[in-house]
Order: sequence, then structure tokens, then C-alpha cells
Amino acid sequence: MNIQPSGAVLGASVTEIDLKAPLARGDFAVLLRALGEHGVLCFPKQFLDAPALKRFAGNFGGLHVLSAAKYFVPGLPEVTVLSNIRQDGKPVGAADAGQFWHTDMAYNRVVGFVNVLSAHAVPQRNGQPLGATAFTNTQAAYEGLPQALKNKLANAVAMHDLNQSWERSRSERQSTRPPLTEAQRREHPPVPHPVFLTHPITGRKAIYVTPSYVTHIEGMTQDESRRTLEELFAHVLKPEYRYEHHWTVGDVLMWDHLGTWHNAVADYGPDEPRLMQRCQVMADRVFDPRFLSDALGESAVTP
Ligand code: SIN
Repeated sequence: MNIQPSGAVLGASVTEIDLKAPLARGDFAVLLRALGEHGVLCFPKQFLDAPALKRFAGNFGGLHVLSAAKYFVPGLPEVTVLSNIRQDGKPVGAADAGQFWHTDMAYNRVVGFVNVLSAHAVPQRNGQPLGATAFTNTQAAYEGLPQALKNKLANAVAMHDLNQSWERSRSERQSTRPPLTEAQRREHPPVPHPVFLTHPITGRKAIYVTPSYVTHIEGMTQDESRRTLEELFAHVLKPEYRYEHHWTVGDVLMWDHLGTWHNAVADYGPDEPRLMQRCQVMADRVFDPRFLSDALGESAVTP
């Protein structure tokens, strides 16, 4: 396997590996470390089908199935379809998924660890790919915070709520998704997470609040919480922490939710087809020190 860092604040290209084959133990360790270090890994020319995507993603943790999700590969509810394509007048996938700055499943007690996407159709205009996925590096952003803010928020906890981003999508982007049902809201109550999370692979701190899900910081007045969150959000979104992946059909892209935010760039039209298949991997193993020392051996970070 060959890993070529992008030279930017995130990103590396991984070649000389066939993701359809079982993942060797040594390669798994290398990929885990690379995820922590580079945040976004592109495996070009893989052309993974849905069962192979599910098998590869399953190496990294349990796969998420959102009960509110409508679009998945038949027989494989873990593989979501993201697409603006319509067949016989009906959408084949979720057209507006991820079109806001967020990190997946931060609204769960067990948060998201990685996403793995396989590109089946990439919109093009004038020979240029559209529909990039944008990222920001929240480990680097933490390190760039003023020390006073790091100290002030060292033990702070923020509340994350799925319903906030769901309702924003409905009102701000004319999404056709219905409101969450009472049962779905009960399944996803607001949950607390530390504002600064210690990354289990690198041991570095990351800013773990996002504009999509965070409603407030506990123990602050509404006004102080809003101002603090606005300051954190503006900081994380500074150009020096940003990176964009421009897709090619056949790419598999894997990214670390614990050290990045992402945003699916909606710069293409309904007649410019985009189709991705996606597995969302939970952080149900990566925080377990036994899992990490098994996977990484002596180089595992001791919390
Ligand atoms: C997502 O948020 O998982 C979607 C990313 C994309 O489609 O680029």
C-alpha cells in the first residue's frame, strides 16, 4: 500500500491496495494511523459495489442504520444512496444529504467514527467535476485557538440535537423530508459531548461542536453560549483549515469524523447526475483502549 499525503491540511491518496479483498491486519493499522493523521483518505479507481463497500467499512466499527433514512441499497440498509437522480419521476437517493457543515452522528451517544463513500456518478460542467465534498481540520483548528479560549472551554460540554439540523434542512433548503416523528425524536434525544474531544488515534484535541447539531454549551447563558459557539465556528471555518475533495467515478473516500467537519457542496443542477453509496461507521470500537492496542500495538496512544 502506498500513501501519498496531499500536502494540504487534510487528505492523502492511498494506492496499491484492493478494497474488495479482505483487509490485512497490518494494512488496517496503517489505515487507522493515516486516518488520524490525514483525516481524509482517497482510494482511486476502486469501483466498489455495495456489498464490498459494506464489507470494507465494517472493519472499522458497527455500521449505522438511521431509522428515518428512506434511500438505501435493497437488502443492505447499511448502504445509503445519496443522489439527485430521478427514475420514473421518483428520487433514487437522498438529494440533499450532508449539504451543511457537520460531523456525522454527533447527535448520538455513540458518535460517528468514519464515513466511507463510493462514487458512482460525478456531475461535470465544462470538463470540471462538481459536487465536491469540503472538509475542515478540527485538530489543527484546536491547536490554533487562543490559549485563553482553550482554558475557558477545557471541561465544557455542548448539547447536540438531530432535530435542529433536520428542521433547518426543512426550512432553509426547501427539503421534502417530513418532520421527525415523535418516535424518531424519542430515539434521538439531545445528547452531551465535550466541546474538545481527545482523538483516540492521535491523542490530539479536536473541536467537537458543529453548527448543524449543537444547540448550546451547558452552564452558560444563552447569549454567552451563542457568542462562544459563533467564535468557534468562525475559527474552524478559516481557510487555513479547509480542504476539498473533487470526485472521480470509482473513488472510495473515507474520512475521520472525530477530527474533521464536512459539507457536501451543492453546486450542480438536477440534470447533472451525482450518485454516491455511503456507509457510516460508528465510534463503537475506536475509543476502546483494547481495540486500539490490538490494532496499533505499541504505537497506540494511552489516554
Ligand atoms: C455526507 O454528509 O455523508 C455526504 C457527503 C457527500 O455526499 O459529499
